[in-house]
Amino acid sequence: MAASIVKRVSRVKKLNVSHISARYKLLTGSSHFSTSKQWNKALVLGVYENESTDSIDFTGTARKFDEKADGKISQLLLTVKKPLKCGKTRTLHAVDPEFSSVLVTCIGKRGEGYDELETVDKGRESIRAAVAKAVLQLRELGENEIEVDSCWDTEASAEGCHLALFSYDDLKAEKSRKPAVRISCATRYSQDKNSMEKEWRKGAILAEGQNLSRRLMEMPANLLTPTKFAEIVKEQLADKCEVLVRDKDWVESMKMGSFLSVARGSVEPPVFLEIEYKGTQSDSPLALVGKGVTFDTGGISIKPSQGMDAMRGDMGGAACVAGSLLSVSKLQLPVHVKAFIPLCENMPSGSATKPGDVVTAMNGKTIQVDNTDAEGRLILADALCYSEQFNPSLILDMATLTGAIDVALGAGAAGVFTNSENMWNKLQKASVRSGDRVWRMPLFNHYTKKITECQLADLNNIGGSRSGGACTAAAFLKEFVNNKNWLHLDIAGVMSNSGDVAYLGKGMSGRPTRTVIEFINLMSKETKN
Ligand code: BES
Ligand code: MN
Ligand code: ZN
Repeated sequence: MAASIVKRVSRVKKLNVSHISARYKLLTGSSHFSTSKQWNKALVLGVYENESTDSIDFTGTARKFDEKADGKISQLLLTVKKPLKCGKTRTLHAVDPEFSSVLVTCIGKRGEGYDELETVDKGRESIRAAVAKAVLQLRELGENEIEVDSCWDTEASAEGCHLALFSYDDLKAEKSRKPAVRISCATRYSQDKNSMEKEWRKGAILAEGQNLSRRLMEMPANLLTPTKFAEIVKEQLADKCEVLVRDKDWVESMKMGSFLSVARGSVEPPVFLEIEYKGTQSDSPLALVGKGVTFDTGGISIKPSQGMDAMRGDMGGAACVAGSLLSVSKLQLPVHVKAFIPLCENMPSGSATKPGDVVTAMNGKTIQVDNTDAEGRLILADALCYSEQFNPSLILDMATLTGAIDVALGAGAAGVFTNSENMWNKLQKASVRSGDRVWRMPLFNHYTKKITECQLADLNNIGGSRSGGACTAAAFLKEFVNNKNWLHLDIAGVMSNSGDVAYLGKGMSGRPTRTVIEFINLMSKETKN
């Protein structure tokens, strides 16, 4: 008993931070796979939903494979009466010399596309879910080299498997970690292998961006401090972006009193990250802003302890900004992006801000902090002001800002508050493609009144009642923005996945990283950003 405790302690001790980031590097790089390894190869094939009991409606790749195998795959599938339904799979063994398993997965009805009520491309969403289920089942069987059917949408197929295979088990004993799996696209029967590989790579990069967001969000707050967040982002982006790590002195010199009022309760120093990706020479960049509270206890207005561990994900906005930049730069999109990430902890202590304190933001506006748990808007106020100095063509901020947006929309969609109909249309279009949805919310003057009614200062950081909490928070941010193309995404409701998104698994979601990448992609095609 005593010996096992000693053993456990020494293992935990060994997991210092540099050890973890070295392992992280290993997990994300392709060099992870050793050549001496015994590979267990498997193939994933797609079929459409089909009522017939004497024929199988294969995808192109699956049909060719079946033909090559003299119809063995279809014969075996037809030995049972019940046709495959969307999301169901059947695994065949010993049907091909090359593959130990051939898994057939049903990708829904042929020709499914945009669904107006669901505001999503159902065809793409079904492919993601179907291949995700397939690769997870094969990993469970010990297969470690999986070739996947493109299912007519190579990008969606790549996204589905790369997102599904993500796991954050760096801190667990080796034997309980998920085994590494190598996945590739089944291009063997394709007319144009190059364009297929290109699309596959795009899907993989989109997923990689979201997976970086998920990893950062999932990391415990004792390991992912503001300083460590900056270090990892620098390591991940340094070769493609300029990463400036501003310290507390810089934040003070910029007179970001609102941001500092949140950071002051913690012994961890705040950091302000400024990142630039210059895919074009445009002098009006797209500005991204992300809430980076690495842990939110609520401060003196302390939160109840139940479920408080989830507040390690309160830097979800910052993580999604970092993940988006990773993908945008890897895809070399022709766009100029500048990102602004205020990072700090929200802690109660002898030096913490007290309810009723008045602080001054960078633009000179005074704020009465009646609730120290409404801290996200305080750090974003200064970051938004600062971002305005760079003549941005648009400002998009992301923040796990309010529990109220979770009450309103749950994990169904991120709430979007914007002053631009045009930007809203673009973002929604991006989300239909990505399957990671958005829903528009109001920026009425009605909500502004709730936060401008203030006893001691220009603004109060809370609205006075619980009603419309996500809208009053957005109205507060609006006081710090002049840009005509501003989008605020409240992502608290989509922060974690409890099983709703089939291809994400449980835990921090990294949503809506892929929607934002797709949005930036749309914008890069549009103008001279
Ligand atoms: N980080 C929280 C919001 C949150 C809640 C994110 C649940 C993810 C899941 C935010 O800082 C917060 O505490 N908001 C308060 C605001 C209130 C005091 C006006 C909230 O929503 O209760
Ligand atoms: Mn809070
Ligand atoms: Zn918070």
